Amino acid sequence: MTFFAPAASGLRGMLTAPPDKSISHRAALLAAMTADPVWVTGYLDAEDTRSTLRAIESLGAIVEVRPDGLLIRGPGLRAAAQPTLPIDVGNAGTLLRLLPGWLAGQADGVWILDGDESIRRRPVDRIAEPLRAMGGRLEARDGRFTPLTVTGSRLAGTEYELPVASAQIKSCVLFAGLLAAGATRVREPGPSRDHTERMLVQAGARVERDGATLTVHPQDELEVDRIVVPGDPSSVAFHAAAAILVPGSRLVLEDVGVNWTRVGFLRVAERMGAVVVGPLEPPQEGIPAKEPVAELDIRDSALGGTVVEPEEVPLAIDELPLVALLGCFAEGETVVRGAAELRLKETDRIATVVDGLRGLGARIEATEDGFAVTGDGGLRGGVMEAHGDHRLAMLGAVAGLASREGVEVVGMEAAAVSYPGFTADLERLLG
Ligand code: S3P
Repeated sequence: MTFFAPAASGLRGMLTAPPDKSISHRAALLAAMTADPVWVTGYLDAEDTRSTLRAIESLGAIVEVRPDGLLIRGPGLRAAAQPTLPIDVGNAGTLLRLLPGWLAGQADGVWILDGDESIRRRPVDRIAEPLRAMGGRLEARDGRFTPLTVTGSRLAGTEYELPVASAQIKSCVLFAGLLAAGATRVREPGPSRDHTERMLVQAGARVERDGATLTVHPQDELEVDRIVVPGDPSSVAFHAAAAILVPGSRLVLEDVGVNWTRVGFLRVAERMGAVVVGPLEPPQEGIPAKEPVAELDIRDSALGGTVVEPEEVPLAIDELPLVALLGCFAEGETVVRGAAELRLKETDRIATVVDGLRGLGARIEATEDGFAVTGDGGLRGGVMEAHGDHRLAMLGAVAGLASREGVEVVGMEAAAVSYPGFTADLERLLG
């Protein structure tokens, strides 16, 4: 589907943030690991998170859709069923990386995980390695890719130093740690999103943080009645960027998750000069049991270039394409360093963002681990290909609104992976 985003004269109004994708995946998985029924309210209805519901159903969970939320009756921590067919994770990298942590520690059973073309290019050795160190049995195509076969086995706790700050790898090891004999320790090179730890604490698991090290202890069972999914800061970051860039804009975002490990983009945007009014959670020492939510009021703003340093990258990883876009409109140079992980996302987001924005008139160069943009008074506009990547499709649409001639986004349907209502919300705000 092709979508034309015209040059806009202002976004105005209120937007309730769509539910958080990362937290929805975790809510479904945790509810499946819990034997008693769990209410999940605000679960995201999008392609990725539907894949997770189908996956847990194939593992024995009963998912009941009720008017006020999902009621999930899981098989419980140690009783994942064995489906006859492979588990299709679709396009969902988070499901692909988190689920094996649970399955690897089942007493017996064999599970095969596979997904779409993009998933087949995304590495799973990053989770296979720590799980094998715990005694897990995993086989991947060419040692790195799906189909991934996981054979349930007895796990033992380990101490694992993450080679990159990745919430997906960390979460996988934490799930496995619930089933392992003895304590499991994971050390992060820098902070990454901490939803798994927060949710595990909520579910009564013994998880502790000491600086950069997390320790999880084996658990007989999880106990949680209700999980509330807040709005997704990564999804509304697109509308926020549009409001910052399009003159005459004022946008109020309601119900936005402002967990400090997720709002790195807003901190970078503020540093560039964006006016964002609303409380962002300050950095936390331990593991809070809650996800903070706030209302944010955003206006069009004059921007200056900035440097995003490697330690900021995991806290803004999915929004870095938007930093590149802001950079096109900022005075001076905007540089992102230490973001080689972008090459392993739904597409190689260094290549696709640089090529896509350059095609609209940007002065942008790729580096090995990021990009450098020179603000050149904005963007001309043109055509941008989404390459099946939801965040690229949404980037193209926002670039169009801020450009002089508008942007035709080829493959806009990719947005449905995380945000099916994206274009409808955008059109409403344009009035
Ligand atoms: C996610 C973590 C991030 C992010 C992805 C979702 C998660 O990946 O890019 O979209 O839900 O844990 P990494 O932490 O592996 O970089």
